[in-house]
Amino acid sequence: MIAIASDHGGWALKAQILDHLRDKGVEVDDLGCGQGDTVDYPEYAEKLCRAVVAGTYERGILICGTGIGMSIAANKIPGIRAALCADCYSAEMTRQHNDANVLCLGGRTLGSELAKKIVDTYLAAKFSGAEHHARRIEMIKKLER
Ligand code: RB5
Repeated sequence: MIAIASDHGGWALKAQILDHLRDKGVEVDDLGCGQGDTVDYPEYAEKLCRAVVAGTYERGILICGTGIGMSIAANKIPGIRAALCADCYSAEMTRQHNDANVLCLGGRTLGSELAKKIVDTYLAAKFSGAEHHARRIEMIKKLER
């Protein structure tokens, strides 16, 4: 199960990603915001990331206008490795190398078709499990202390 959340800058793209994922049969919970709301993105980043860290969701997708604010906020939560991606190669590599558990997207910077491909690529990719990548992720975890 995955979760998705956005602020007002990401709401329109979130609606398209939700339709896309549900059409594909992917189970996804929308943690807000709602249509027409104007909200503060750190609140939604925290809500989704805490749920991912708690194990309620395997992975999450956060969308704001640029994806930058969501990614900055998400990476403050211990246990979260959030990756802002604007291309499919990065989306694949951030799973294989960084084991990123949150994908961030820019609702005002990405076309919806590219965004859907980035999401599909991210969800299909797996952590490589290679020792050198695992070691580096452990080093990142130590930075949280
Ligand atoms: C909201 O206007 C905008 O600042 C937000 O969506 C995001 O782009 C911040 O990084």
